[in-house]
Amino acid sequence: MYKKMNSINDLHALAQLTNGFRKSNKTIGLVPTMGALHEGHLSLVDQALQETDETIVTIFVNPSQFAAGEDLDQYPRTLEADLEKLAEVGAQHVFVPTADLVYPPGFSTSITPPQVAARLEGEFRPTHFSGVATVVLKLFNMTRADVAFFGQKDYQQVCVLRAMTADLNVNVQMRVCPIVREADGLALSSRNRYLDADQRKTALVLYQTLQHTRDLITGGLNDGFEIVTEMRQMLIDGGVDNIDYAVVANPQTLETADFIDGPVVALVAAHVGKTRLIDNLMIQ
Ligand code: PAF
Repeated sequence: MYKKMNSINDLHALAQLTNGFRKSNKTIGLVPTMGALHEGHLSLVDQALQETDETIVTIFVNPSQFAAGEDLDQYPRTLEADLEKLAEVGAQHVFVPTADLVYPPGFSTSITPPQVAARLEGEFRPTHFSGVATVVLKLFNMTRADVAFFGQKDYQQVCVLRAMTADLNVNVQMRVCPIVREADGLALSSRNRYLDADQRKTALVLYQTLQHTRDLITGGLNDGFEIVTEMRQMLIDGGVDNIDYAVVANPQTLETADFIDGPVVALVAAHVGKTRLIDNLMIQ
């Protein structure tokens, strides 16, 4: 069915494939995903296809980045549809490992994530980035990637992985691709499918808040506290059920900015119903 796409689910086959690429001096692009693919993921595949000779997409819902009580069991698994989408955009290889293959019996190593993981997401999901860093390093090694492609939607994840690759001298270049949004501004996310029609309307306030934050800052407001107060008020007025954070921060360290005198990133995480959504916007 997916004639031109090579589907792999064991490490031996993956090693054979990547050895062949190495021998013929082909560059390997990795697009790590947890499936439930949308246009955001496909834009990463597209970029990988343009920049590297062989693109490997991985689909693995990584249990170690979910804490107890989070949505691991509920997380959408749509393998058939994902494979179809990947074949349509011309992805060459897809690696779909089982949990046992990634974490075989006896597995006991994990990465302590860098400093930047402790803020924001780290305060609400303290074990999340250790799980992400560990699986991403494993995927880098398994696929022997030269270049890996991530979405800016997970802004802090990118900061964590950049720091990890630098700290551990990991020889993989990272590319960060822009957030893909619906026409009305909602950032694409696999978790959007949890939202009902009313909740989806409410969810728009995340991006509206970020845009308003940008307008405040470009209009000359530079007091971090005032800005954050407005951000929180707008989210509450827009009907979100709970705010985890709404901040303007240093784009590299993610330290919150008390006084804005240079580029910042505005980041929000809020719950709409039971769904936790994140979004962000760079403000120059
Ligand atoms: O961004 C994601 O989908 C995941 O965190 C990743 C990078 C695939 C690791 O499981």
